[in-house]
Amino acid sequence: MYNYKENLIYFIFVLIEVCAGVTEFPCQFPCQWRNKTFHRFETTFEEAWTFSADGKTSMLGDSEGRQNFSCYQITERFLILRLKDRDFFKCFPIFYDPSIPLEIKAGGWNNFYSTNKTGAFTDLCPFCKVPDWLFLWTADPGPPSTPLPLSLDCNRPSSCSPPGVVCNMSDTIPKTCPPTTEPTTTHSHCGKKKRMHPLN
Ligand SMILES: *[C@@H]1O[C@H](CO)[C@@H](O)[C@H](O)[C@H]1NC(C)=O
Ligand SMILES: *[C@@H]1O[C@H](CO)[C@@H](O)[C@H](O)[C@H]1NC(C)=O
Ligand SMILES: *[C@@H]1O[C@H](CO)[C@@H](O)[C@H](O)[C@H]1NC(C)=O
Ligand SMILES: *[C@@H]1O[C@H](CO)[C@@H](O)[C@H](O)[C@H]1NC(C)=O
Repeated sequence: MYNYKENLIYFIFVLIEVCAGVTEFPCQFPCQWRNKTFHRFETTFEEAWTFSADGKTSMLGDSEGRQNFSCYQITERFLILRLKDRDFFKCFPIFYDPSIPLEIKAGGWNNFYSTNKTGAFTDLCPFCKVPDWLFLWTADPGPPSTPLPLSLDCNRPSSCSPPGVVCNMSDTIPKTCPPTTEPTTTHSHCGKKKRMHPLN
């Protein structure tokens, strides 16, 4: 019997993305945040986030006390903070529009511990979870330009699976720094495997 299939060649293209966007480690906060204190908008807590002049550290907390958190790693639009001299971290998405420089839309807090961590995290999925909270940080005393109530278009790194909405691999946190102040340690974990499998 004539087998139609035998006269055709089928190609199955399998494109496997082994990719986790661009990672900056150690990282620096955007230049427009430096030397500034942001407050949480519309909250009864006096939470504040102050960024150092060099962009490497920040003081974060409320009226009961603030702690020194450094910029540990930025992957895509996810910021990982590390508590100074501790194994304590936070990972959350940032939505920052440099044309609204005094407002930061962020998730929070996804606190986690990693003992004696030295290098960059490569798998963010176990701890960059769907944020429990959404925060509008503002350094401007006036009414915010960011639309309220807050929402985030996505809340998980591109390499992760649901729950949550995965972000675009090409997402970044805009730095708006003069070229000379850009950090030097930027690299990407991107690799693509393309397999072509002929059938006949
Ligand atoms: C932050 O303040 C320091 C000290 O006043 C100053 O030298 C530096 O240029 C400022 N940096 C930014 C980004 O405003
Ligand atoms: C936070 O810690 C860093 C590193 O030790 C230090 O350089 C910086 O001055 C500290 N920031 C504040 C506000 O204490
Ligand atoms: C972490 O570092 C401390 C101090 O060097 C060491 O005593 C401890 O065993 C380390 N812990 C792990 C889990 O490697
Ligand atoms: C991801 O970003 C790229 C470049 O901006 C864009 O072309 C693409 O449509 C985006 N993908 C999604 C799923 O948003």
